Amino acid sequence: MAITIALANRKGGTGKTTSSINLADALARQGRKILLIDADSQAQSTTSCGFLPQQIQSSLYELLHLQAQGRSDSGFIQQTIIKQVKPFDLIASKPDLSAFELEAGQVPGREGLMRNLIMEIDQDYDFILMDLPPSLGLITICGLVAADYLIIPIEPTFLSMDGLAQMMSILYRVNAELNPGLRLMGILIIKSDLRTNLARGVVREIIENFGTERLLPLIRTDIKLAESPSYGKTIFEYAPGCRGAADYWRLAESILARSGLA
Ligand SMILES: Nc1ncnc2c1ncn2[C@@H]1O[C@H](COP(=O)(O)OP(=O)(O)OP(=O)(O)O)[C@@H](O)[C@H]1O
Ligand SMILES: [Mg+2]
Repeated sequence: MAITIALANRKGGTGKTTSSINLADALARQGRKILLIDADSQAQSTTSCGFLPQQIQSSLYELLHLQAQGRSDSGFIQQTIIKQVKPFDLIASKPDLSAFELEAGQVPGREGLMRNLIMEIDQDYDFILMDLPPSLGLITICGLVAADYLIIPIEPTFLSMDGLAQMMSILYRVNAELNPGLRLMGILIIKSDLRTNLARGVVREIIENFGTERLLPLIRTDIKLAESPSYGKTIFEYAPGCRGAADYWRLAESILARSGLA
């Protein structure tokens, strides 16, 4: 059974997508079977992996739509998973995923639709990563209900501490109402430049509030991480020797250790 990890922050631009694709690739290159689910209608994990949404025949939207209708089909799920292009498998997204939020708004048990989908495929993987959207809509709730662990990526700024507090209260609500098993894997600080007082202050505050064990290895600022999506490449394909690649490699090692799989 796979370990399922949601990367979520309701604040936009905090590194959810960058971390999802590069962590997926790092874990795959460390010998694990990985599925990345692009659960954001912006489809940026999909395009960062080199797929244009218009080239995608079936995507997460169709899979959740069938789940909502009670018509899931394992052959169709397997056809939808993009295999053998990257070291990891991918369920792509398209802008029409936003329609799911409206369509499934009244479906009984709607919060469990992603979990039901994952239960059909999780025997094939060691880890399933979900890139969630910067909102608190149904897709995000579905993702948190389906997950074993939550990673909250943040930028080291004062305002991001506010977003972090909001995410923690969402975690507690999901624990109380929908998924008691969801645990915080850790807080992932991206674009960390410890030469600035601001970044050092944010790191200190996180350690004081959550303990060192909830602080994941830092991801430094690296322009190569911002460039690689435009070539449809992960950092390991685009610039394997750069510090962004080294940082995501170290993050993957830490995730394996935290999951008891190192
Ligand atoms: N360590 C880094 N160094 C430099 N640039 C980075 C780094 N991490 C992310 N970026 C850039 O920051 C921007 C936001 O990152 P990303 O798209 O991963 O955030 P997101 O949380 O997925 O955004 P959204 O909320 O819109 O889904 C992107 O342009 C990305 O290339
Ligand atoms: Mg994103």
